[in-house]
Amino acid sequence: MTIKLKVRYLLLTFIVGVLLSNCTKAYIPKDNESQLSPAITATDTIKYQSHISVLISNNCIGCHGGSNPQGSLSLENYNQVRNSTENGTLIQRINDASDPMPPSGLLTNQTRSLFDRWVQNGYLEN
Ligand code: HEC
Repeated sequence: MTIKLKVRYLLLTFIVGVLLSNCTKAYIPKDNESQLSPAITATDTIKYQSHISVLISNNCIGCHGGSNPQGSLSLENYNQVRNSTENGTLIQRINDASDPMPPSGLLTNQTRSLFDRWVQNGYLEN
């Protein structure tokens, strides 16, 4: 191989590498489950303070907080989140593939199931 060809080969390898690493990134779920601590097991009781509020902060509060929340829906505290879950459309919207919340796309199954478990566990606050 001439030097020129070697350089081209290295360049190509580099470009393919960058493209591949970008593809891998796209599959990392945006609601980073590692932010849930400690890790949640199938038998854990799901509570607002320990589990739900961090999910809302990471995925919803940017639009559903502050003085002018989107859709006139504020999700800043236990009562507001519980009310939207119990009497509103929160569960429906986080599971609605054609009109999801967050609008950027459905959260992972595991994350969405935590909301169901919170309901089943009786909307515990802490
Ligand atoms: C990028 C901004 C954005 C994010 C992030 C977002 N929402 Fe929304 N949400 C909206 C907008 C805009 C509306 C009003 C339009 C609509 O209903 O689609 C809305 C409406 C809703 C509604 C219906 C409100 C009602 O009473 O009719 C629910 C429930 C909801 N969002 C829940 C959530 C939850 C839960 C999350 C996080 C998991 C979330 N949203 C994340 C922008 C956002």
